[in-house]
Amino acid sequence: MVITVEQLIKRAGELPPIPQAAQKALLLIRNPDTNIGEIAEVMAVDQVLTSLVLRWANSAYYGIGNHVSTVQQAVMVLGLNTVQSLILASSVASYMDRPVPGYELERGELWKHAIGVATGARMLASRFGRQIAEEAYHGGLLCDIGKLAFEILLRNVSVDRPEWKDLTFLELERAKFGIDHATLGAEMARRWNLPDNLVSTIAFHHTPSKAGEHAKIAAAVHVSDAAMMMLGQGIGKDGLQYKLETEALKLLNINENGVSDLIERMAIQIKELESFIGFDWKSR
Ligand SMILES: [Fe+2]
Repeated sequence: MVITVEQLIKRAGELPPIPQAAQKALLLIRNPDTNIGEIAEVMAVDQVLTSLVLRWANSAYYGIGNHVSTVQQAVMVLGLNTVQSLILASSVASYMDRPVPGYELERGELWKHAIGVATGARMLASRFGRQIAEEAYHGGLLCDIGKLAFEILLRNVSVDRPEWKDLTFLELERAKFGIDHATLGAEMARRWNLPDNLVSTIAFHHTPSKAGEHAKIAAAVHVSDAAMMMLGQGIGKDGLQYKLETEALKLLNINENGVSDLIERMAIQIKELESFIGFDWKSR
């Protein structure tokens, strides 16, 4: 059975797009000619975004007490990278937080996996500078977004045919449907007007050496994804046959010890992430 991207997106009809205000704000943040006032103005018309940045700017983490009362002040306190992460996270959280039975993932597991991959990818990419590190974080957050559209199809599909037993889950998706969750997720990101580096990272997060100019970011997401699988986080059906691309380690200039070190650091971070995962993103 070959399913087109159009049919898949149609079948995943309950997936809302990224809200318009969020899309506009993300576009403005990427434009070097935009000032903070313009970004704040777009965000201020959206109640969810307004309450989100005010709550984070006034949170204990930023340590300045309850003194931030406008979106513009909040954007200044948080910085554009954090604001961008919050907008992306809040846009996808509501549907990443639900169960994904097609991949045998419980409620919250895909979300927890996404936040973990994002955090590890940022750690790995930080050696290339802050900008790349933030891009890796966003890529990690969204890399498996295609699974949400796919999982409806996977629920009723038997995957135990003998000829499929040695395939990775990505290969199985292709064998069964003619498209994999990486390609599908990239198409969804393109439709949401997300930047090229994110589209490319999502498309190649299982094959980073093919990501061209974005290969380092895709490699950071890929290795972090593998590390999360090794930590047993968000495995589901998909983690059973994960193929780590050795080229990714070369792109990041790390060896297997570097991966072990990452796994140790991520295990500590995952505990600290619980409050982030438990955050009520839909609160208005
Ligand atoms: Fe994936």
